[in-house]
Amino acid sequence: MCGIVGYVGTRRVVPILLEGLRRLEYRGYDSAGLVYSFDNRLVRYRAKGKLANLEAVVDEYIGVASGIGLGHTRWATHGAPTEGNAHPHTDCTGELVVVHNGIIENYNALKKELMAKGHVFTSETDTEVLAHLIEDCLKEKRDLVAAVRAALTLVEGSYAIGVLWAGEPELLVAARNHSPLVMGVAADACYIASDIPALLPFTREVIFLNDREMAVLGRGTYTIQQIDDGSELAKPVSLIDWNASMAEKAGFRHFMLKEIFEQPQAILNTVSGRIVPDTGFVDLPEIGLDYATLDAIDRIALVACGTSWHAALIAKYWIEKWVGIPVEVDIASEFRYRRLLVDERTLTIAISQSGETADTLAGIRRAAQLGSRVLTVCNVVGSTMTREADGVIYTHAGPEIGVASTKAFTSQLAALFLLTLYLGQTRKTIDPITRKKLGLSLIDIAEVIATELPRLQTEISALIEGYYEAKDFLFVGRGLNFPIALEGALKLKEISYIHAEGYAAGELKHGPIALIDREMPVVALVPRDSVYLKTVSNVEEIKARQGRLVLFGTSGDEHLSTLTDDVLYLPDVMEDLNPLLYTIPAQLLAYEIANRRGCDVDQPRNLAKSVTVE
Ligand code: G6P
Repeated sequence: MCGIVGYVGTRRVVPILLEGLRRLEYRGYDSAGLVYSFDNRLVRYRAKGKLANLEAVVDEYIGVASGIGLGHTRWATHGAPTEGNAHPHTDCTGELVVVHNGIIENYNALKKELMAKGHVFTSETDTEVLAHLIEDCLKEKRDLVAAVRAALTLVEGSYAIGVLWAGEPELLVAARNHSPLVMGVAADACYIASDIPALLPFTREVIFLNDREMAVLGRGTYTIQQIDDGSELAKPVSLIDWNASMAEKAGFRHFMLKEIFEQPQAILNTVSGRIVPDTGFVDLPEIGLDYATLDAIDRIALVACGTSWHAALIAKYWIEKWVGIPVEVDIASEFRYRRLLVDERTLTIAISQSGETADTLAGIRRAAQLGSRVLTVCNVVGSTMTREADGVIYTHAGPEIGVASTKAFTSQLAALFLLTLYLGQTRKTIDPITRKKLGLSLIDIAEVIATELPRLQTEISALIEGYYEAKDFLFVGRGLNFPIALEGALKLKEISYIHAEGYAAGELKHGPIALIDREMPVVALVPRDSVYLKTVSNVEEIKARQGRLVLFGTSGDEHLSTLTDDVLYLPDVMEDLNPLLYTIPAQLLAYEIANRRGCDVDQPRNLAKSVTVE
């Protein structure tokens, strides 16, 4: 949801900004821009569309010996995705520039006041107001830091910003409120970025800024202060254990495909060190909640968005089955605005790859205000949710760059299954022998997926020839596989733009069955599980209406091949772990269809990976 990057140091700034933007492009690709300071002037380039368009414009200037600048990649909120609305935005003089991620909610009122004072606006964005507001504050006192602080006290909404001013050309000022911003530090340089991957080629030492904090960066020097009173803060430097190559394609055609193939390792990394294989004992040291607190919980609220919400739906089945605590699952944008019946006996769990999704963050803040304890299942170390929650279970999936989430999802499932075992252990609802069996099966599933992946990709790339031109798809499943049906449909629509819906197989007859005819592909998830016979009956109903069936089922189940030619067989694993396995062909189906249709798999239209606006 917009990416910003900034650099002050001794190296040439333009290649650093472009590399940073390349690694942030997953956050938005409606336009890109950059600015650097040279010879006491600010030089700005902007281009509509992807970063490649900006690179084409700035290329010949890469030799310019500037060591300070800002870059931006945009996901449009206010104003169409045009060059005129691309960041950086300037004040009236062109001597002050701002890049911004977030939404300035009172921009209309501020804009009117500034226009009355004679400011002339050239874009439709909310961001431009910031540039003019800071310009206005500079009239009081020619001091950039003071002017940014004064301006930000007038602003309502969310922002991560970077500001440069030709009047103090060696200074970069950054600030954050409700939008992510991380600083990178090195001996001769300082960086800012919306997310860690942008910093990985340059430094792994980072400082996470909190809301209402601002940073003043120079060549290897920095200060951090509170926006509200200007008081200086001493903040810890954290060392990130990701490396730059983890955010590269490593020979794969797309990040998404690479990340699909990384799933066995991501699951293993998430589980590793947390289950003692001999005893099945589960250890979650960062959980931050003692046994007494966990014992006192009488309800769990799971809050998430998108693919993470599908992980939550599966966790509900697991926790209710094995721990016996009622679990409610909410889409965060609904949870945050309704009457919440959570209290100090509720455990609210946010599930989020990024740890920055605005609605999920707002949801856990509301729950915490009502006295609930908050846990975050998250992939990004130091992200806002992890800092605000009482405890964390990190997924160790490594950086996920493809906009469509894959390895983050299966790692979330692994972490949530671990949490289920942990709660069963503390509350004594799972006997040790069963717990050990479940834990070892979780470890084993990584190996099963690793073995099946190459075969599945080959079979699916052949199978999609008959389907890639379809206009609609249905995905159906029961029980633990109902959320996988939702996830399969989401993956397909996200990256191939084919309309797809996921349904609980038993719900089909209450409406969606009317859609079925010989044109409608239906992907049915039919493992030999406790609801197998029920799901098979639903598949028969689809066949009777001439739906085009693609079945994912258990190896050896010959009945399935009497129903359709298009069966993908998967090994028989413990029923609880079917979602981790059955999501793999669903991901590959979406990937292969999107690729066959020539879609931009890693950067699908209109989407952004990290949604930091409401
Ligand atoms: C966006 C992404 C999805 C993701 C969702 C939640 O919509 O495109 O892939 O599932 O946000 O993100 P989170 O980081 O909170 O898991």
